[in-house]
Amino acid sequence: MTDFIDLRSDTVTQPTTQMRQAIFSAVVGDDGWGEDPTVTELETLYARLVGKDAALFVPSGVMANQIAIRILTRPGDQVLAGTHQHVVGFEMGASARNAAIQFGFLNDDSGVLDAEEIARAIDAQRDHHLNVSLLCVENTHMFAGGVPLTSAQMSTIADAAGSVAIHLDGARLFNAAVATGESPAALSQRASTVMSALSKGLCAPVGSLLAGSTQFIEEARFERKRLGGAMRQAGFLAAAGLVALTNMVERLSIDHVKARRLAEAVQNRFSESNFDAAHCLTNIVAFNHPRSRELMEQLASRGVHGAALSASRARFVTHADVSEAQIDQACDAISEFTWN
Ligand SMILES: Cc1ncc(COP(=O)(O)O)c(C=O)c1O
Repeated sequence: MTDFIDLRSDTVTQPTTQMRQAIFSAVVGDDGWGEDPTVTELETLYARLVGKDAALFVPSGVMANQIAIRILTRPGDQVLAGTHQHVVGFEMGASARNAAIQFGFLNDDSGVLDAEEIARAIDAQRDHHLNVSLLCVENTHMFAGGVPLTSAQMSTIADAAGSVAIHLDGARLFNAAVATGESPAALSQRASTVMSALSKGLCAPVGSLLAGSTQFIEEARFERKRLGGAMRQAGFLAAAGLVALTNMVERLSIDHVKARRLAEAVQNRFSESNFDAAHCLTNIVAFNHPRSRELMEQLASRGVHGAALSASRARFVTHADVSEAQIDQACDAISEFTWN
């Protein structure tokens, strides 16, 4: 039987043995009353890692983004974001539905927002009476191929944004930290609020964290409840999250090396993609291909499962549960690929 080499996403990762043991022995309480010590420990640790006053544990990355957007905007406001960011294209219109905002789109093909374009978009509100209240930044930028932003790039973006607040979608902020060699706090410093996922490359089963000022997190607690995201003995999940933040970050570099190998195979086999493997700096290989859906289907029939992001863009994601031997097999399948 062909091996199922699962490169669809890093969300497919299983909780590690250490996580399962931590879940089993977690001390828990009712977090609705602020009485779950394991949740509190996780929130305190994340706030410290990203250099913010306080943090909140939420069920998903989408909820973390949505809470931030609800608090930092008013209905009718414009939120600037890259066209391909998760908040724009992958949250089922949630920001319009939950916060009644409209997006102003910025070019993010390279994964990095352009300072002049940001400044122009903000300046436009003077003539058009729009209220631009928020800029969303994604680090790493998923659609662009897991592109990590440095703190210097964040500073350029923040200088252009001026007084407009920044929410950082750092679902894979720890991948960015490992790739750039900078701390999550340095990468988040110019953002008012930041979120990170525990359930992707860090292998926890459930949950994301949202951080910001003390007042922001107080409000976020209410918004989490409004969205139905308040949990009770959530310490069982937080216990796995603590293992994720303390033991699973450094090893992300292994995923990055695996992704680079896949990227090289893609560059060599699909020259029509004009894909440069040197741009693959974290755990995502995203490339243009005119027949991306058929390509992913045909590779899947040979055991290599990626994902089509659109009709012309395909993606492989590496993670802890894909072995070196499977990467070898996947590279061979890509290199030897011929159309059916
Ligand atoms: C960049 C980015 N932001 C946010 C999310 C949302 O996370 P979740 O699936 O936990 O809601 C994802 C999920 O893939 C993501 O890639």
